[in-house]
Amino acid sequence: MAGTYTFTIIKPGAVANEHIGPIINVINSNGFHISALKLIRLRTAQASKFYEVHKDRPFYKDLIEFMTSGPIVVAILEKENAVDDYRKLIGNTDPSKADEGTIRKLFAQSVQKNAVHGSDSDENARIESDFFFSKSERFSIFDERDF
Ligand code: CMP
Repeated sequence: MAGTYTFTIIKPGAVANEHIGPIINVINSNGFHISALKLIRLRTAQASKFYEVHKDRPFYKDLIEFMTSGPIVVAILEKENAVDDYRKLIGNTDPSKADEGTIRKLFAQSVQKNAVHGSDSDENARIESDFFFSKSERFSIFDERDF
């Protein structure tokens, strides 16, 4: 069965442009429940670890600089089929290729400053959620399930 939660980041560009509220509104309007939420600023070591999978990519250094440039919002979102449905809602990594109505089409500035991150698998949703949130910071609506 597909997992019931995913993990998201509202990135520094979107936070700086006062898009936190509008993005959360789109998330809620599309049936996602916010189960954990906080505003934080990443240190370089944390960002490097979070994006380690991209460490050999040419954009890695710029990505780390950008992701540490200001506060971000991290959140866990719950919904049936959360990972796939949220990937559809955020749209293509490159906002110029994102469908109308997607979060990246609405709020992204560029491929790098693409407004939001969304987990790409249930396993990464678990790893990324655990990276930022302790059990006491998470409030599941599916409380009979593993969270
Ligand atoms: P995210 O979904 O957070 O995962 C990795 C990030 O790397 C991605 O969003 C973009 O912000 C960034 N990224 C991916 N591809 C490129 C690229 N070609 N140029 C610059 N940044 C990129």
